[in-house]
Amino acid sequence: MKRAFALVIAFATAAFAQAADLDAGKARVSKVCAACHGETGSSVSDAIPNLAAQKAVYLEAQLKALKDGSRKNPVMNAIAAQLSAEDIANVAAYFAAQAGAPAGSKSAFLPNLAKTGVTFPENYRNTFTKYHTINFPATKQVRYYYANPAAVAAAKSGKSLPDGSEMFVEVHAAKLDAEGKPVSGSDGFFVAEKLLFYTAMARRAGLGNDIPDMLRNEDWNYAVFTTDKQHRPGVNQAECLACHKPLDKTSYTFTIKQIADSK
Ligand code: HEC
Ligand code: HEC
Repeated sequence: MKRAFALVIAFATAAFAQAADLDAGKARVSKVCAACHGETGSSVSDAIPNLAAQKAVYLEAQLKALKDGSRKNPVMNAIAAQLSAEDIANVAAYFAAQAGAPAGSKSAFLPNLAKTGVTFPENYRNTFTKYHTINFPATKQVRYYYANPAAVAAAKSGKSLPDGSEMFVEVHAAKLDAEGKPVSGSDGFFVAEKLLFYTAMARRAGLGNDIPDMLRNEDWNYAVFTTDKQHRPGVNQAECLACHKPLDKTSYTFTIKQIADSK
């Protein structure tokens, strides 16, 4: 009799430990996941899957694979790496409990992540250092990388990049030959034919204040500018933050070595 009672308690405790916490799932989703998948699982863009009404077991399996890296996606790998097993169970149960998203529906960006404190650096051609160039064969682009004096000085002395640092990238379409292949110059880089847009990242005190920890890059913000120097509409800063997030040891900067080595 006593034994049977103990067993019942053991079962009840196990069941309780496994029950997902929908409120905790909702809290996590509304702060972080909503930036891309929408608060109720209807995503913000065509490149991001809806999660509403998806099966919880499937969602858990995907999040585990994204966390351990067996499923690869730089943005989701960075986010899933920060989720505990409990978080995973909670967010999966929360999305599974949402009504399926109507066809064609789209959620809005989160306002705290859509806004950016990065402004167009008017004088960058005279004041920044051009420190790097990369060919992008898949998109037939060539990109020129610039860093401002604060960033260059810190990188050269091996310090993390301080407030006031800024990196700025010109994205150009490459000149194409008759077969549609990019033409290379004598330096081995594609010949730039047409400026398409600019990307930028800047660090200033307070810029990270409204960004949830799972996405925050200390006090860095990101932006994309059109060729007429305006913020490009439709940019989801959450994607920039997520992909640069794992680089906390190098000031969230992929090309830190090139900045340090610049002339
Ligand atoms: C910055 C945007 C962004 C954020 C924030 C984000 N996701 Fe994602 N998520 C993506 C993208 C993009 C994909 C598609 C990945 C791929 O193509 O493999 C994805 C895929 C997934 C998948 C796989 C879906 C499937 O159909 O296989 C799951 C599950 C998921 N995300 C859960 C989450 C959860 C939970 C959070 C919050 C903790 C979250 N995501 C936050 C962008 C984001
Ligand atoms: C999928 C991952 C990914 C996403 C999303 C992403 N970046 Fe990056 N970013 C990179 C990589 C990798 C580099 C290194 C050079 C390159 O590929 O251009 C880079 C380089 C940069 C640089 C030059 C400084 C550095 O870190 O080396 C800037 C500025 C930048 N990105 C801005 C942005 C902005 C703005 C967004 C959002 C609109 C963004 N990035 C989104 C991966 C990403």
